[in-house]
Amino acid sequence: MNKNSRLLFLIPVTMVLAFIGFAMTIESARTYAHGAHEHETVAPAGTEPGGPFKLTDQDGKTVTEKDFDGKYRLVYFGFTSCPDVCPVDLKKMTDALNMIDKGRLAEIAPIFITVDPDRDTPKVMKEYVSLFKPSPVGLTGSKEDLKKVQDGYKVYAAKVEDKKGGDYTLNHSAYIYLMGPDNRFIDIFTPEDKATDIAAKLKKIIPAT
Ligand code: NI
Repeated sequence: MNKNSRLLFLIPVTMVLAFIGFAMTIESARTYAHGAHEHETVAPAGTEPGGPFKLTDQDGKTVTEKDFDGKYRLVYFGFTSCPDVCPVDLKKMTDALNMIDKGRLAEIAPIFITVDPDRDTPKVMKEYVSLFKPSPVGLTGSKEDLKKVQDGYKVYAAKVEDKKGGDYTLNHSAYIYLMGPDNRFIDIFTPEDKATDIAAKLKKIIPAT
């Protein structure tokens, strides 16, 4: 193998390894989630996705995780100009919320956090979240603040330049996190989970009122 072909070989290997690493993070998150409610064990501190945040909502108001105290949260990361995955996932989250009774619905805060602070201003977020009923809270913020939240949730997001000279897009992980009323991680939904799966989980976790 000459130097060039060795390099060409290494690129896919590195990508595969990075992917396996990411998948394992998610898998361990799932394992903990199942342990947490089926065996009453608690994951070691620092291993669960989540954490505190201080961001700005679609009305320009400062919002922290404490503003949702006492409520379950469905948290999704994405960006408003995403052409396909984000709208599909947010629609799925909305569909799940529309499948549960009003009593449980009142116990849940759907939250959409942008990974694209340059374009997703509060005004842009407001227009976007209003497309979904019930509308999620749309959160944006400074790059630094959003990076902290992404790291806490183990979210992957990276800018990709459009080769046709157009605007950039972002590659990002697409998971819906279910957090408890105390902001602790409960479960994660992957793109394979359907709205009915999310609704079933919410019915199981949240007591009927
Ligand atoms: Ni997206």
